[in-house]
Amino acid sequence: MAARHTASLLAGLLVLLHTWGAWAAVEVNMKDKVEVYLGETAQITCMYTSEDGIGGTIIKWFYVTRSGGEQEIYHYDSIKRDATKNTPYSNRISVNVTVGEVVLTISDVQVEDNVEFICLVKGLTEDMKGKTKLRVFAKPKPPTIRGAQTGISVNEADLSLIGTCEVKNGYPKPNITWYKNNNPLRSTPNVVDVKSSVTQSSGLYLVSSELKLKVEKEDKNALFYCEATYFVPGIAKMMETPPINITVLYPSTAVNIWVESPKGKIKEGDSVELHCRGNGNSPSMFSIRHTKSEAGWDVDTLVLENVTRLHSGTYQCTQTDMDTFEELSDNTTVFINYLDPVVLTPSEAVGDHGKDITITCNALSSLPTETTWFKNGQKVGKGHSLTLKDATFDSAGTYVCMVSVPEIKGMETSSSLRVHVKGPPEIKEEALNEIETFEKTVDLSCHVRGYPTPRITWSTSDGKLIKAASETETEVGAKSVVSVPVDSDSSVFCNASNELGTDGVTFNIKAKIPIHTTTPATTTTTIPKAPVKTETPTTSKKTKTESKGVIIAVIIICILLLAILGSVLYFLYKKGKICNRSGKQDITREKSSRDNIVVEMKSDNTEEAILLGVNGDKQPPGDQ
Ligand SMILES: *[C@@H]1O[C@H](CO)[C@@H](O)[C@H](O)[C@H]1NC(C)=O
Ligand SMILES: *[C@@H]1O[C@H](CO)[C@@H](O)[C@H](O)[C@H]1NC(C)=O
Ligand SMILES: *[C@@H]1O[C@H](CO)[C@@H](O)[C@H](O)[C@H]1NC(C)=O
Ligand SMILES: *[C@@H]1O[C@H](CO)[C@@H](O)[C@H](O)[C@H]1NC(C)=O
Ligand SMILES: *[C@@H]1O[C@H](CO)[C@@H](O)[C@H](O)[C@H]1NC(C)=O
Ligand SMILES: *[C@@H]1O[C@H](CO)[C@@H](O)[C@H](O)[C@H]1NC(C)=O
Repeated sequence: MAARHTASLLAGLLVLLHTWGAWAAVEVNMKDKVEVYLGETAQITCMYTSEDGIGGTIIKWFYVTRSGGEQEIYHYDSIKRDATKNTPYSNRISVNVTVGEVVLTISDVQVEDNVEFICLVKGLTEDMKGKTKLRVFAKPKPPTIRGAQTGISVNEADLSLIGTCEVKNGYPKPNITWYKNNNPLRSTPNVVDVKSSVTQSSGLYLVSSELKLKVEKEDKNALFYCEATYFVPGIAKMMETPPINITVLYPSTAVNIWVESPKGKIKEGDSVELHCRGNGNSPSMFSIRHTKSEAGWDVDTLVLENVTRLHSGTYQCTQTDMDTFEELSDNTTVFINYLDPVVLTPSEAVGDHGKDITITCNALSSLPTETTWFKNGQKVGKGHSLTLKDATFDSAGTYVCMVSVPEIKGMETSSSLRVHVKGPPEIKEEALNEIETFEKTVDLSCHVRGYPTPRITWSTSDGKLIKAASETETEVGAKSVVSVPVDSDSSVFCNASNELGTDGVTFNIKAKIPIHTTTPATTTTTIPKAPVKTETPTTSKKTKTESKGVIIAVIIICILLLAILGSVLYFLYKKGKICNRSGKQDITREKSSRDNIVVEMKSDNTEEAILLGVNGDKQPPGDQ
């Protein structure tokens, strides 16, 4: 070791001595390297000293070819100064020689110019060489990244391709580094594999890099990106791609089935949606089975429309992984609540007067229920049984029983039944009704309570039966209406009977002569009991004034006729009398002809009018 050291030291000393000797003749000084961007202009300077002066000095430029040879590109002496023909530089170089300095200028620098340039200075006795490396740079395009387009299973036996990165048009060759969550990745057997490939096009580099990984479940959240490092004059720089993520497919470790809707208790008629999900995402098959019906479906969502209690039971979901064929399952119990139709007992209740009547109402349900009774829209009781104490005709009617489930809104059902109270007929209208009327006919009605439903007959005082205009069965009995002509004072009987008894009522009708005889009544039904006279005074006045004018004219004509035709006095006198009388008679006849139509009562509400007349206070006809 020590011997070798001494040898090299001796050799160095010899070189130094040689140079020392030549110092006096020619000296060349050049930079190690010159750095320039592709396409720009490079200047390589060669400093020299020569004792021989510029006149006796020959200067030559060479470049080092790929094979290591030196190729002359420029020649300079006192006679000839130009670029060597047929070299890559023949048209691209110029040389500027001044005292002590030669500058080689290369324009439009190419990738191929990335070589060594030699400056040779020849004196008369000696020659000397200097070398400069020209370094060419091209900044690459920003790198690109492309991630795996399909999901990657964690069950993959080999490393899986995560993505490919590419950087183009760089010089010298750029490098690509992969990062996962900001940590650089290096090839590690069976875990990470980074493979780069390099191609050159017109001298520039395209570097492409593939990343392969053993994918794990955690990688579903990992972000991957590439970094390209490249050189520019004097420094190394880098550019990054945007991050990508990958879809990692991993098997479920648990599966879950649940009722998605409705939330809370389910009732018959609902739509039930069952969901089944695993906590993995690798391809798998789902099936949902109803334990009782054994029906299976290849879905992870099951919708049951309009469910019935038969849909109750356990639903089991099974997930089968398509890669491993491992099965996972879960089950859930579904209960469909129900409320059966109401059953009323008895279905039609007939009770005795003065006794208690009990009716019951039942609806079978899976949940606690509440029962409410209604009559005529009014709440009359609670609980599944209702007792009507000391039944009267007022107890009779339609009862509605409503059964509801308080726990589920809208879950209710109802039904109704008629309650009859046995008893002889009872006519509501009072006996000996006095009716005074201007009408030509009156409507009479008879409301009867009683059960069995009474039969109603109408008759006149002379025993004639009157046919009813309408007959209706009511909640508590029956109702009949007749229309009776009013000729003179008369009596009408309403008789009601059933197997338990009879009842009767008499209507005494008095035909009234109208009092107001001087007024022609054109409207008759607008104001009950008000004399129509007050309504049309203007009409009658007008008629009178018109008549006076006519009379005057007629008198004048008559006088004229008298004067001219005096000879036929008797005949003319007679004629004048007729004219006079006909005017007057028209008016009186009009008056008297309308007297018959004067009416003081509401013609379309006779029933009310009758009640008013008899009882003095108003009672709505329906409230009986
Ligand atoms: C040659 O170099 C000198 C000194 O650097 C400069 O003044 C001159 O303009 C240059 N000539 C050309 C042709 O470049
Ligand atoms: C690229 O990598 C090689 C080898 O590790 C290294 O020598 C070179 O300097 C790198 N280039 C850049 C631009 O970083
Ligand atoms: C990662 O993937 C998810 C869905 O696959 C997507 O929503 C998200 O934007 C992605 N993130 C990035 C940074 O690509
Ligand atoms: C729901 O089912 C019941 C009993 O099966 C049926 O009567 C009813 O019409 C169904 N309703 C609808 C909306 O399908
Ligand atoms: C439902 O699951 C429970 C526990 O998860 C299990 O014990 C039971 O046997 C299952 N029932 C059915 C019918 O699969
Ligand atoms: C009808 O009733 C009246 C009195 O209310 C009674 O006088 C008459 O006898 C009854 N007629 C019949 C047929 O029952």
